[in-house]
Amino acid sequence: MDLYEYQARDLFEAHGVPVLRGIVATTPEEARAAAEKLATSIVVVKAQVKTGGRGKAGGVKLARSPQEAEDRAREILGMDIKGHTVHRVMVTEGADITEEYYFSLLLDRTHRAYLAMASVEGGVEIETLAEERPEALHRVSVDPRVGFTRAKADEVVHAAGFAPEIADEVSRVLVKLGEVYAGEDATLVEVNPLVRTGDGRIIALDGKVTLDDNARFRHPGHADFVDNMSTDPLEREAADKHLNYVKLDGSVGIIGNGAGLVMSTLDVVAQAGADLPGSPRPANFLDIGGGASAQVMANGLGIILSDPQVRSVFVNVFGGITACNEVANGIVHALTMLGDLATKPIVVRLDGNAVTVGREILAEANHPLVTVVDTMDEAARKAAELAAAAEEA
Ligand SMILES: Nc1ncnc2c1ncn2[C@@H]1O[C@H](COP(=O)(O)OP(=O)(O)OP(=O)(O)O)[C@@H](O)[C@H]1O
Ligand SMILES: [Mg+2]
Repeated sequence: MDLYEYQARDLFEAHGVPVLRGIVATTPEEARAAAEKLATSIVVVKAQVKTGGRGKAGGVKLARSPQEAEDRAREILGMDIKGHTVHRVMVTEGADITEEYYFSLLLDRTHRAYLAMASVEGGVEIETLAEERPEALHRVSVDPRVGFTRAKADEVVHAAGFAPEIADEVSRVLVKLGEVYAGEDATLVEVNPLVRTGDGRIIALDGKVTLDDNARFRHPGHADFVDNMSTDPLEREAADKHLNYVKLDGSVGIIGNGAGLVMSTLDVVAQAGADLPGSPRPANFLDIGGGASAQVMANGLGIILSDPQVRSVFVNVFGGITACNEVANGIVHALTMLGDLATKPIVVRLDGNAVTVGREILAEANHPLVTVVDTMDEAARKAAELAAAAEEA
């Protein structure tokens, strides 16, 4: 899970990393109140989105009064930054920056190690720097069995060439960032920029943190970081029902069992739709899993049918542990439960364990919305055609 800057800021603070005061606001009026509360001569209004390059996109702005903070927040809220809508800003103290550095600590899977990176030339141009003068971005491997110790931090500071008069303080801050990384089970802690201020302090001005979801059970507090504002409501409902659902932007709803089958179904549907009017594409990805029960099928179908972008549904199941008869019963059960809410055509392709009984159950139910097709390619074609036709109507 990636964190917002303000969440990273809070984690940093909790681990003793020097940060600036910051207050989150969701309206221009709240931003004004935040600036009044901070009461500094300059505040910075920062878009809170989980992507980099906010500054360049106009999502980081200075304000010299609470009124200006309100105005800047009005401009930034609702803005689209690389496909992310800004729902919140953080109003933070303005810093008197004399130098900007870069530091990150991340998981290096290839080397089964951690990797620390640092540069004395940090700031908004770090991507360009990494590309054009990679030697200015210093890399130090960290043995996970030893961790990011003070000695390691000193090594990084030395390699990157921090000025001697700040080396000690920078090293101290890096150790604290290492504590965030290890203590919170992060896979990334990045600070860009880490700044030196006019009065000689070293401060983490921006923070990017990725937490390891597999370690969530060790950190009950991390549940608070889950962002409901940007999660699609259907994705949330699916997660509550333990369904593996991903929203895509096409019009053919896809349900399958097993990630491999679902992924190849996405491809087949995209291909079948390519030369049809409007080129219908998959609307989502829903894997009901290997041992899915009738209830699970019903839950899945319910979610797919309530996505307004869905024009047709393709249920592609290979019966294994869950035999085709159970899947067929699930479909019939789901349609009964949904009643009038089910309004979209459903193409079903069943194969595998108990396929004959499964098809018989569907034939007997004879539901007007359901078409059973024998092969995956033909079924994909049919589902794409139905979506194209519905789109035209
Ligand atoms: N509180 C502050 N006081 C003064 N200047 C600031 C402050 N916050 C940010 N800035 C300036 O704005 C620049 C961009 O801010 P920041 O790094 O937080 O956002 P960003 O552009 O999204 O960065 P990234 O691409 O690394 O995510 C900083 O490099 C810094 O020069
Ligand atoms: Mg930054």
